[in-house]
Amino acid sequence: MIRTRGLTKDFVVSRTETVHAVRGIDLDVAPGELVAVLGPNGAGKTTTMRMLTTLIRPTAGSATVAGADITSDPATVRRNIGYVGQGNGAGHVQRAADEIVAQGRIYGLDAGTARRRADDLLDALDLRPLARRKVSDLSGGQRRRLDVALGLVHAPRLLFLDEPSTGLDPQTRANLWDHILRLRAERDMTIVLTTHYLDEADTMAERVVVVDHGRVIADDTADGLKRTLAGDRLVLEVADDGPVSPTTAAPQLAELVSRVPGARDVSVDGRTVSARVADAPAAVPGVVVAASAAGLTVATAQAIRPTLDDVFLALTGRSLRDEGAPPDAVTGDDPLADPTATTTDPQTRKDAA
Ligand SMILES: Nc1ncnc2c1ncn2[C@@H]1O[C@H](COP(=O)(O)OP(=O)(O)OP(=O)(O)O)[C@@H](O)[C@H]1O
Ligand SMILES: [Mg+2]
Repeated sequence: MIRTRGLTKDFVVSRTETVHAVRGIDLDVAPGELVAVLGPNGAGKTTTMRMLTTLIRPTAGSATVAGADITSDPATVRRNIGYVGQGNGAGHVQRAADEIVAQGRIYGLDAGTARRRADDLLDALDLRPLARRKVSDLSGGQRRRLDVALGLVHAPRLLFLDEPSTGLDPQTRANLWDHILRLRAERDMTIVLTTHYLDEADTMAERVVVVDHGRVIADDTADGLKRTLAGDRLVLEVADDGPVSPTTAAPQLAELVSRVPGARDVSVDGRTVSARVADAPAAVPGVVVAASAAGLTVATAQAIRPTLDDVFLALTGRSLRDEGAPPDAVTGDDPLADPTATTTDPQTRKDAA
């Protein structure tokens, strides 16, 4: 469905400044795949999508999208794809339902078909009660759902979604994904999306492409990335009031932990012993039993599975948390539960993250 080779985009900003936004991306997406593209702000995700959707021309490299070349046959590409951009796509003065119908007409649907499709999408995306409202009167989350409807009205085989869920409350976000996944199953759609919500990429995408500084730096399933690049962590605490003093017990426990399959980076900090292991949940019972047999008391044991942020950290030495993603985005925590989540002050955001 998508094949790119050496796809490159330079933006010449001034005589002395050129931004190398995308630096030679090779990407293959098979029909029916759901691929999430992850990366920090400025990594080149939107620029790549804008090239693949024929909105801007590549500086170098080639791509075929839905069977057509993006440079020599952009019209065919456009007919076969849907694109929900990072900004809002809808106009302001039209009513929501009319906007969807108008978009369908632009794609060459006859009036009856456009109206029927609009009707289906109003139901599918919970927009029915808002059908007669002006676009300018909709809330951010409602407009985002309308954007998705606009991207789907011509029943594309391939859908590009650039941060479709950013700024939505957790409930609306979950609903939106329900709708998108259902439509995908019904229509056998291929989907390429970007998101800063790593939990979304983790749970929904069959494949995660990590982009940094305009390049693909990893491309695998979320589980595959975590297994090969991050790995599980085991964190144990010896009891304060056990028969052996913590200063003696912790190093002894560390010795037991170092025998766990795949154990590395074993470290002791006060009462706490931590290590990377192959399979943390499977290791816990054995370590606790062995500790007990050695006269040590384990007070707490945590088996920590890696997140996609750990993967990014392993790949780049940086956390996606530091890159300007919303504070709730990387962890997937409920932003409503965090009173600082909506602040725009960078320091407060950093602290919150
Ligand atoms: N029209 C443009 N002119 C000049 N520079 C641009 C233009 N569009 C994008 N860039 C630059 O290209 C780089 C990649 O931007 P892009 O929008 O693709 O990032 P992104 O991965 O989508 O980031 P985000 O997560 O913030 O949406 C950035 O450095 C950006 O400033
Ligand atoms: Mg972007």
